[in-house]
Amino acid sequence: MPLTSPKEMFNAAYHGGYAIGAFNVNNMEIIQGIIQAGEAEKSPLILQVSAGARKYAGQNYIYKLMEAALEEADLPMVLHLDHGQTFEICRDVIEGGFTSVMIDGSHLPFEENIALTKQVVEYAHDRGVWVEAELGRLAGVEDEVSSEENVYTEPDEAVEFVERTGCDSLAIAIGTSHGAYKFKGEPKLDFERLDKITAMLPNFPLVLHGASSVLPEFVDMANQYGGKVADAKGVPEDFLRKAAKSGVCKINIDTDIRLAMTAVIRKFFQENPQEFDPRKYLGPARQAVKDMVQHKIKNVLGSSNRI
Ligand code: G3H
Ligand code: 13P
Ligand code: ZN
Repeated sequence: MPLTSPKEMFNAAYHGGYAIGAFNVNNMEIIQGIIQAGEAEKSPLILQVSAGARKYAGQNYIYKLMEAALEEADLPMVLHLDHGQTFEICRDVIEGGFTSVMIDGSHLPFEENIALTKQVVEYAHDRGVWVEAELGRLAGVEDEVSSEENVYTEPDEAVEFVERTGCDSLAIAIGTSHGAYKFKGEPKLDFERLDKITAMLPNFPLVLHGASSVLPEFVDMANQYGGKVADAKGVPEDFLRKAAKSGVCKINIDTDIRLAMTAVIRKFFQENPQEFDPRKYLGPARQAVKDMVQHKIKNVLGSSNRI
């Protein structure tokens, strides 16, 4: 099956009250773990590549790994650029075969974000490629863009932004942030704002970044085996279920993959200090990615048996 566009996936998810997981990929084990989970759950998948991932693995390597995956797995899959910072990066990945791009102008003033997004939309739509944009800012680090504080998305600005840019989906800020330290006190998201945006943009797919749950199982395991991941806190899974029923069609998960792999590898090294064959620890790490992603698909996103 060739790489696909998010169009049909999001349409079905929107009306079915579930979301598609967008998982960040950086190497072969991560790609394989995610795809094995998608196959086990018969779930569509979005695999996304950040600027950091392109730098680490090389865009062509990731693309070729995806080609291999597509030959083996009979699943609808999107290859998406995560947090594209410039028109040129979006153009390069579109030329490289990606079926979806994010242009992240969220750090720019409103009018400049509109102008940049429009430029990408025109180029991408001529080539049948989907465009995700972002309005509002997430606290924390977004690749090279960092923002001290959340600036939540204004519903009327969201409507104007979508109308004027023609973007296909929109990442919104309602209180999530990237990384493992999302909340100081009780986790809280602005669901009222989400509901308002959804009501004002009917049938329009929204995207939630910074949506890892920072699973205590892996934080505890990492810490038990020598890690220092103190006071980590993520988005509770029931918040994600609720968002998926309110117009959020794409839920981004990266930190949970990192934590699962790291926890399992730390445990392995402590229990097997004599081992030095990378397959011995990358194998269990890949299995941990698969199990964690399968759990998300089945119990949180609700995208099982949708193909
Ligand atoms: O949004 C950020 C993603 O988690 C990607 O992170 O830039 O370190 O690859 P990265
Ligand atoms: P997390 O850091 O919560 O996994 O968010 C990932 C993300 O939004 C990638 O764009
Ligand atoms: Zn993000």
